[in-house]
Amino acid sequence: MKKYLVIGNPIEHSLSPKLHNYWFEKNNIDANYDRRKIDKSEIQEVINEIKDNKLNGINVTVPFKGDVIPFLDALSEESKITQSVNTIYIHDKKLIGHNTDIKGFELSLKETQFNLKNKTIFILGAGGVVPSIIYALEKLGVSKIIVSNRTKQKTENLKENFPNIGLVDWGDQPEFDMIINATSLGLNKEDKIGLNFKNINREKLFYDVIYNPKETNFLKTGKNLGCKVSNGKMMFIYQAFEAFKLWHRVEPKINDELNEFLDL
Ligand code: ATR
Repeated sequence: MKKYLVIGNPIEHSLSPKLHNYWFEKNNIDANYDRRKIDKSEIQEVINEIKDNKLNGINVTVPFKGDVIPFLDALSEESKITQSVNTIYIHDKKLIGHNTDIKGFELSLKETQFNLKNKTIFILGAGGVVPSIIYALEKLGVSKIIVSNRTKQKTENLKENFPNIGLVDWGDQPEFDMIINATSLGLNKEDKIGLNFKNINREKLFYDVIYNPKETNFLKTGKNLGCKVSNGKMMFIYQAFEAFKLWHRVEPKINDELNEFLDL
């Protein structure tokens, strides 16, 4: 039986095992997917389990997407630029790090049917997932990306890899066509972002990377303004879909039955 793992800290809330194990069953794949909470000092040990044939693949989540990089033999182009790895596999005895968050985000955007060409995107936050979001947006040909983060230094670090992004202070609100909440504000139902969103027309897309709760205050605001809204559920599903394809060479189904099963 093949074995897969998601590593992170905290990890209890990860739904990746539920999703991958469901797809194993549906596709008659003899495999098991588990979660493991680790400390940074244990990364080497866990990754070695792939080399020792005890594990076949690893998903990496917060806060280790960058920390795993020194332990790998090669990185995909996407992981290199974003310095973020969420999927590890072995190829020709070499440990490869890949980033499926980019494609996950991209496919989730496609589903919103929001036309991004020549649009201005405003990103709140500068944490682990933001380089992947910027990379995807640049590829999709948006005209401007503006980032705002409570700790300004982190946005300046982002600019080193993505020199074309604009930066604004936390609390400032530039003109935008799409706004993305990539902060952890909203994980608690009462959390508020603190922007007033005055004079906003209905043509905008409000996108929250958070999917639990389903509707953050940020998305409620967008909805009340009559804007299009999307939570991070499809990004979560599609990043897993891409990892699944990579590991098993099978395209798992994303349908109503899956949605009901996940109950997100
Ligand atoms: P990490 O920063 O370790 O990568 P993350 O969960 O990927 O963790 O990112 C958390 C994001 O939410 C960060 O952008 C963080 O801002 P800081 O860089 O200033 O910490 C943001 N965030 C978390 N709590 C916040 C709060 N109360 N107000 C504003 N931003 C917050």
